[in-house]
Amino acid sequence: MADLIKMSGKEILYLLEQEENIMNCLGFKNNNGQLKKDMRKKISEISGFCEQILKVIKKLDKDKEIVFLECSCGKSYLSFVLSYILEREFNIKTFFFGVDTNKELVQRCEEISSILGYGNMVFKHGKTIDFSTDRKVDIVIALHACNTATDEAIVKGIKIGAKHIMVVPCCHGQLRSQIKSHHPLTNLTQFGLLRYKFADILTDALRSQFLLGNGYYVELLGIVSPKLTPKNILISARKIKSKKNKGSLEKYYQLSNMFNTNFRLQEFFPEHSLNDTLVCTC
Ligand SMILES: C[S@@+](CC[C@H](N)C(=O)[O-])C[C@H]1O[C@@H](n2cnc3c(N)ncnc32)[C@H](O)[C@@H]1O
Repeated sequence: MADLIKMSGKEILYLLEQEENIMNCLGFKNNNGQLKKDMRKKISEISGFCEQILKVIKKLDKDKEIVFLECSCGKSYLSFVLSYILEREFNIKTFFFGVDTNKELVQRCEEISSILGYGNMVFKHGKTIDFSTDRKVDIVIALHACNTATDEAIVKGIKIGAKHIMVVPCCHGQLRSQIKSHHPLTNLTQFGLLRYKFADILTDALRSQFLLGNGYYVELLGIVSPKLTPKNILISARKIKSKKNKGSLEKYYQLSNMFNTNFRLQEFFPEHSLNDTLVCTC
């Protein structure tokens, strides 16, 4: 069975294109049964993300229900597609929580799940950081959660001890204005366009170091070609230690201090005190 849980993004895309019911309910197709032009990018992103999630699931116990939390779910395309693939194609039992600050979208998700007859989904209105459940969440996922909403997903995943945290970040606004001066690479960041690109890289590097520091093994992967979207990087983290990794956390603070950043992630962890003891050595 484990070997069967494998599909490429292209195979997932092909499968979905044949599946009228879910494609219509999610609004991917027009009245002529054709894929809407403006949805092509989204469905490719979802297929590419699903491919990586299937690789992770391959290593989990398939006899147990897998519980997902989709943060900043929007219309929850990712959860609906995953639910369809895992239950219908691979016979894996799943449960999905979705959380979003947009009340209308949450209501829309409830409507779609009821039309599709998916009883394995609960949607909550609110911020990711405020989400709570008594159930053990296995995998936290987020696709294009705006700016610091991605950090909320990472924080939530760490705090609830999720086995896997998989986020594809969206806009990286928070550091752009913070890295104009007072760091060793000002000769680079003085150029607006380069500062934007560098802020994106620095943001995802800080997120990755923070996850390493909190006992996760981290990989960065491309879910689709960068030609389709520059927002194609998946930060995929797997819990390997129950305790914090002090060495990695130090690297996080070294990087953060090097650029004098006030990064959103650490605000949620007042118990991390390394920040006080480390000084920038550059
Ligand atoms: C770019 S959309 C992505 C939606 C969906 N994941 C997708 O890929 O289609 C970002 C979503 O994040 C939600 N959002 C923004 N800040 C949030 C927060 N702090 N907690 C939960 N949702 C948030 C917005 O309401 C919006 O639906």
